[in-house]
Amino acid sequence: MKVKRIGLLSSGGDAPGINPCLRAVIRTAIYHDLEVMGIEDGYEGLVHGDVRELRARDVGGVLREGGTFLRTARLPEFKEVKVQKKGLRELNAAGIDALVVVGGDGSLRGALALSKLGFPVVGAPASIDNDIYGTEMSLGVDTALNTTMEAVDKLRDTASSHQRVFLVETMGRNCGYLALMAGIVSGAEQILIPEKEVDLETVANDIELAYERGKSHAIIIAAEGASVKVNDLAAYLKERDIGFEVRVTILGHVVRGGSPTAFDRLLASRMGVKAVQLLLEGKSGVMVGLNNGKITPVPLEDVGTKKHSPNLDYYEMAQILSI
Ligand code: ADP
Ligand code: F6P
Repeated sequence: MKVKRIGLLSSGGDAPGINPCLRAVIRTAIYHDLEVMGIEDGYEGLVHGDVRELRARDVGGVLREGGTFLRTARLPEFKEVKVQKKGLRELNAAGIDALVVVGGDGSLRGALALSKLGFPVVGAPASIDNDIYGTEMSLGVDTALNTTMEAVDKLRDTASSHQRVFLVETMGRNCGYLALMAGIVSGAEQILIPEKEVDLETVANDIELAYERGKSHAIIIAAEGASVKVNDLAAYLKERDIGFEVRVTILGHVVRGGSPTAFDRLLASRMGVKAVQLLLEGKSGVMVGLNNGKITPVPLEDVGTKKHSPNLDYYEMAQILSI
């Protein structure tokens, strides 16, 4: 069936880069004489039929904005087939014949579910965690990495002036990619990630050794999901009296916001264009992924069942570089 009207939604955690991707989908579709219907608040808006037509001028200016102008939501009930079927009924009622979903691995599992029910769907990966299978980079990762790096650069001013240890927590509940890469580009003395189990004593010993090697201050970057929590570590380090004073900074959702970097805007634009092209070619049940420099279709079935973990060679590299 020839696609005439595309539906578009963002779902799950927001990420810088979603807006440029939505813009690219809308403008590519209109360029190809398709109509685009924006669905607000992710799957929640889908099941309530919150749909409106989007035109090229509606996305003037969103290229440089973080978040998502279509807004996003979480709807746990969307795992139920009866709720997914309600969504399908709303899509049919709005005359939508294909859907683009921009979101994280959960949202892409929702897209897979709709595709399994027979609806044409293409997904685009957005998550600052970089935990989505089938793409080397997800939308928002580069911006979040730059935000973390800039924050640590600033914290280092105080750390070095006062000869302190700063424990900096960045996002990453289940995936340490962001903390690992931020650790390398910020020159952290230690990196704590969920993929590498450590205990308080080992971390404290390493920091003590760094002090003995003549380091005047230290930065430890931790993913929120690391086995050692920054507040516990701070209490332990204070008790052990390791030579440095200790401070904790939790960056939290600050790293999820902000204007997308050039890298994220370009990746988002490429992914958005490709998503529409795939639907026009009659492809469905796939996600657009960055692989070896190209934007390629990856089966949503794989995306929904496999995990993207950070390459732990980088962990060793970080250890070498922090001597
Ligand atoms: P993210 O997309 O950022 O990973 P979530 O994991 O919270 O965020 O998923 C976002 C939404 O996607 C959920 O609230 C739900 O509506 C939908 N979703 C998640 N997992 C599934 C699933 N297995 N089947 C259908 N829909 C899902
Ligand atoms: O976007 C991914 C992520 O940032 C995780 O690292 C974090 O644990 C989670 O989202 C928090 O999301 P929320 O505050 O929306 O529940």
